[in-house]
Amino acid sequence: PTLGVGVDIGGTKVAAGLVDADGTILDSVSEPTPAGGKIAALVADLVDRLRDRATAPVAGIGVGAAGFVSADRSTVTFAPNIDWRDEPLGADIARLLDLPVVVENDANAAAWGEYRFGAGADSDDLLLVTIGTGVGGGVIQDGDLVRGGFGAAAEVGHLRLVRDGRLCGCGQHGCFEQYASGSALVHDARERAASDDPTAAALLARAGGVDAITGPMVTDLAQQGDPLCVDLLHDLGTWIGEGCASLAAVLDPTVIVIGGGVGAAGDLVLGPVRAAFEEHLPARFHRRVAEVRLATLGNEAGIVGAADLGRAASDRTTSTS
Ligand code: BGC
Ligand code: NA
Ligand code: ZN
Repeated sequence: PTLGVGVDIGGTKVAAGLVDADGTILDSVSEPTPAGGKIAALVADLVDRLRDRATAPVAGIGVGAAGFVSADRSTVTFAPNIDWRDEPLGADIARLLDLPVVVENDANAAAWGEYRFGAGADSDDLLLVTIGTGVGGGVIQDGDLVRGGFGAAAEVGHLRLVRDGRLCGCGQHGCFEQYASGSALVHDARERAASDDPTAAALLARAGGVDAITGPMVTDLAQQGDPLCVDLLHDLGTWIGEGCASLAAVLDPTVIVIGGGVGAAGDLVLGPVRAAFEEHLPARFHRRVAEVRLATLGNEAGIVGAADLGRAASDRTTSTS
């Protein structure tokens, strides 16, 4: 039985996990994210550390990255929220390690993890939406990851929801992630607090200043019943639900999995997601309605999914050679 290594490259840290064929993380390591060109060397080092301690051979590596990935699954062509342009991550890592490397979009990797081992294990037609710095998407159709013709399918964060809306890191205006991400939640919370809105008093007192407001603070206060914070999460959930309704018009998933930090808010966000999803679903009274659930693998979905994709790629290499 071989093992895979899954790597999750985020804005603040690079995390790697040694994962078995059942999706269990056996060992893990992480380091702060270094500047652009040094990422491959760090990934190789993390993989080496895991490989040294592993009790079975590592078959392949999967790397989840928060950006657009080329069709050959090796290059990050563009990342709206990280300073990456045509980063040949797969080749750079493979040069440092004698192992097959698959680079996958972070949300695609998470969708694959939730599909194989988590909240979507009972569905072959799944949509995963992750709410973080951006909004990520992963689509499983007929049991396969949808990657599109050029590798850039399922970039659901850039579905346009508002004409001439907020400017997005992708260069367009009005994208889903400008309204439904964790960053959007913080943006909206700070805007309310900065406008002398009296209902923001508790949030402001908690944060100690407009710029110190964070997403977890909003979630925390909402759980204590603070009306502004409940309202902010309600708004966020409504945006997520509306976006999912438009996506369902194209994809017709049976299950929609919501991942990312907002999961901590539970029903405070999931309730509004479901309500807005059903309200805006085309032909809502004349079709089956997808079940909306929270992700179950949490922050580890990307590592688990990427590792599985890395292992699978090495199986293919072995069986065709
Ligand atoms: C990027 C995606 C990524 C998502 C979540 C978006 O801004 O375009 O590639 O999956 O953020 O990290
Ligand atoms: Na994606
Ligand atoms: Zn965009």
